[in-house]
Amino acid sequence: MNRNRILGATLSALLTLGAQAQAPVLTVKADAVRGTIQPTMWGIFFEDINMGADGGVYAELVKNRSFEFSTPLMGWKEVKKDGGSGSLLLVNRGQQQASNPRFLKLVAGETGAYGIANEGFKGMGIRKDKGYRFSVLARRPAGSRVTLVAELVGEKGERLGAATLTPDAPDWKQYEAEITATGTDGKARLQLWAQGGGAVDLDMISLFPKDTWKGRPGGMRADLVQLLADLKPGFLRFPGGCIVEGRELATRYQWKKTVGPVEEREMIVNRWNTEFRHRPAPDYFQTFGLGFFEYFQLSEDIGAEPLPILSCGMACQFNTGEVVPMEDLGTYIQDALDLIEFANGGPETKWGALRVQMGHPAPFNMKFLGVGNEQWGPQYVERYQAFHKVLKAKHPEIRLITTTGPSPSGELFQYLNDTLRKMDADIIDEHYYAAPDWFLQNATRYDRYDRKGPKIFAGEYAVQTAGIASPDNRNNWKSALSEAAYMTGLERNADVVHMASYAPLFAHAEGWQWTPDLIWFNSLQSYATPNYYVQQLFSTNKGTRLLSVQQNGSDLTGQDSLYASAVLDDATGELVLKVVNVSGTEKRTGLKLQGVRKPGSARITVLKSGNLSAENSFSDPGQLRPVTTAFSLNDKVQTWAPYSVSVVRIKVR
Ligand code: AHR
Repeated sequence: MNRNRILGATLSALLTLGAQAQAPVLTVKADAVRGTIQPTMWGIFFEDINMGADGGVYAELVKNRSFEFSTPLMGWKEVKKDGGSGSLLLVNRGQQQASNPRFLKLVAGETGAYGIANEGFKGMGIRKDKGYRFSVLARRPAGSRVTLVAELVGEKGERLGAATLTPDAPDWKQYEAEITATGTDGKARLQLWAQGGGAVDLDMISLFPKDTWKGRPGGMRADLVQLLADLKPGFLRFPGGCIVEGRELATRYQWKKTVGPVEEREMIVNRWNTEFRHRPAPDYFQTFGLGFFEYFQLSEDIGAEPLPILSCGMACQFNTGEVVPMEDLGTYIQDALDLIEFANGGPETKWGALRVQMGHPAPFNMKFLGVGNEQWGPQYVERYQAFHKVLKAKHPEIRLITTTGPSPSGELFQYLNDTLRKMDADIIDEHYYAAPDWFLQNATRYDRYDRKGPKIFAGEYAVQTAGIASPDNRNNWKSALSEAAYMTGLERNADVVHMASYAPLFAHAEGWQWTPDLIWFNSLQSYATPNYYVQQLFSTNKGTRLLSVQQNGSDLTGQDSLYASAVLDDATGELVLKVVNVSGTEKRTGLKLQGVRKPGSARITVLKSGNLSAENSFSDPGQLRPVTTAFSLNDKVQTWAPYSVSVVRIKVR
């Protein structure tokens, strides 16, 4: 070794020692429990926005299956081959069948084939060797010789499979056939051919993959539900969002119209159809194939508390803002009472019996109910009070969730926050869509909240990198890292914050209206964003009891760019420390576990990127993904990587 290298090595050793000497110490106070972590702490917000339900997790591949869109043949087109000819006639039964008035009368000529083709939701995702269940409600008048061929066709027109069905009755009957696909195509379509000459009436033309979540016929996309299950969520909030309220009261979400036989669920327009001029979605409707029964069932499947939100008699205040007169609010309150009966009632009750009939004899054990979404003003208080009075008298066991409007500050927020606190509300829902810096600066938001007052549900939040609901928002690392820093603040205040959920949840890559979103998908694939992995790191490491992490006697809330929180996990006997480094340089700290006599093995899971613009994508879904390695407690100095979220689990029992 030459003289210069020796000098260099000595200098670097001295510098390291110096840094070690100066490294601040993080003290995790394992001997001072601050509170209990609610099992509901980290959950999921579900709304049919961005084609999240129809065209998304609801696995139906046919768009406008019952011809009820306002343009009745939207998604469909006439097809002919081999010299075939015929005609299409839309028939409207009106009040005779108010929930599904239209059907299609198809008359085919005697030669060739004549029919209709459906384009699906931005194309149908069909996979080689997988089974697809085609079904249709049909009736064939006497004298007609029509047979039907359901055919899957790839983007370039190649046949991917077909099945023949022969309607044999003049009355409505369901016909089913299974098709095994011979190829994979993300832009496939369905063609339904009539051959043999004559008429046939058609309704509820449907195509589902067989391998839905839990293999349920007419069920949900397995890959998307798996992503939800992997979050191990504490609750599932449904069905939104603004969709609860509707643009006007007539298009509010009415849960009773979403249960019972699928063909009797009355479809309505989706309020995101027209919301954003820059993202028009004229083909966006709600079929309610995914309705309240399915939401409850999904909650149960993924181990989440069901958390329905109902209209409080106020339409979206960003739109019409119309309200129901107080004297007519009774119908809305009755809807809430009936919902509790549907979820929890016995088979002898009207709505409990419907749940049993739909296949769920046991109650869903619903414990929470939201009254209104993002309402504001005295009109909300008046309506909430009416709900409160009846619901608390009849169902004191149900915890009610109230709103403070769309922003976490300002006059509208302050008015409701003050008023609801005076009313001793159970749980207050706060929403924040804000810039990355807002999240960093507000990690201490709940430090100042009244510990004895109402509990907090951070019901919708997400970093907006460009602006609220701007189409230019990105699910990049900067957004996810800032959310992680903020979430340490939620966790540090888990005695007050009982629930939190990122929003929105899903986005179809070609059918979105709102960015950013937690999970992106197209007709065949899906991927988790860095924001998803942040949520997952917190929810799968939520623990049971709250501890504190301090530096020089203060909680770590951004000092030297570090944010931290810690919990005990009684189920595994581990201490769980979360450290978020929002700076581009490595941070070095000591680590002291106060009250832990003999720590056992430890491991660290790190989510990081040196590039704040980094994103996951269909072609590179794992660019940002957490990595777990062993963690040494013998090291005097711990290092926290630049731009990183670290979760350390240490055996303490
Ligand atoms: O998450 C998207 C929308 O944002 C929700 O529907 C609404 O509650 C909020 O304004």
